Amino acid sequence: METVLSGIRSTGNLHLGNYFGAVTNFVKMQKDYNCFFFVADLHSLTTYPKPEDLHNNVRAVLAEYLAAGIDPEQSTLYVQSDVPEIPELYLLLNMNAYVGELERTTTFKDKIRTQPDNVNAGLLTYPVLMAADIIIHRSHKVPVGKDQEQNLEMTRKFAKRFNSMYGVEYFPLPEPFNFGKELLKVPGLDGTGKMGKTSGNGIYLVDEPDIIRKKVMRAVTDAGPTTENQEMTEPVKNIFSLMEIVSSSDTVDHFRAEYNACRIRYGDMKRQLAEDIIKVCNPLREKIKEILADDAYIRKATDMGREKARASASKTLKEVREIIGFRPF
Ligand code: TRP
Repeated sequence: METVLSGIRSTGNLHLGNYFGAVTNFVKMQKDYNCFFFVADLHSLTTYPKPEDLHNNVRAVLAEYLAAGIDPEQSTLYVQSDVPEIPELYLLLNMNAYVGELERTTTFKDKIRTQPDNVNAGLLTYPVLMAADIIIHRSHKVPVGKDQEQNLEMTRKFAKRFNSMYGVEYFPLPEPFNFGKELLKVPGLDGTGKMGKTSGNGIYLVDEPDIIRKKVMRAVTDAGPTTENQEMTEPVKNIFSLMEIVSSSDTVDHFRAEYNACRIRYGDMKRQLAEDIIKVCNPLREKIKEILADDAYIRKATDMGREKARASASKTLKEVREIIGFRPF
């Protein structure tokens, strides 16, 4: 069985984009692959969460993964900081990563631009830690969004460099994984681009119905079509894309016909869209609340995850140490 691994940083709640774009696919992969899913809390330190928030941020993401259907028995669901083998591998990989190539990473260059007063070394070596996350389980496939493509390329580079430096075929070169089809793009509500955690255009799984209605009713549209079968503008296309994800095909067909006949009332469409989103979010929100109230369950799930993750990670690290030349006295 091939090994699949993916991580989510604990820097905010899951939105519909994360859910339909990633997590529902993780859930489907569980039975066909040896799956590792983790909460990247060490990575979240680059933005300095307050000590009193750190734990609850991790807890929230765990509850959301579990509520969405990640099965902690079938998959290995763990917290990054619970596995000390990861930072050790990170240290070893750092010796093989060049400052120049790290400085040229797009995400790092973006950070220099957006937060010039806090360009810490953790940001510079972010791709090394991510590589350690991935190759510690000798993963083959990494389901991530397009924004992570370059980081994954760096992972392959570091894995390959290690293999050739020591003349071994030890680490597989992990590939991005898109479930055999095109990645689903979940658009945001502001008319352009995809739903994002920081862009304020998203609907969170934990949003209450009233909030969802408010957000959807405020979504950007246009002045409406003036000729039959008119091409849609991007904001309107986005609303239809969202509807295709959450509504029945009858509903989508109905509004498409209304649009093509220039009879569409965006208000009606949004009201319908909001109700269909609420139908998706309601059971998830209830489940998330239930899990958040159940400390014993979260503890059991993370205990199990830590044990399985460390078993796999310590095996790799032991072999890596041997390859590098560390010997017991
Ligand atoms: N960098 C990823 C993100 O920002 C999170 C992440 C950390 C990750 N380590 C990973 C994703 C390993 C996949 C595999 O979304």
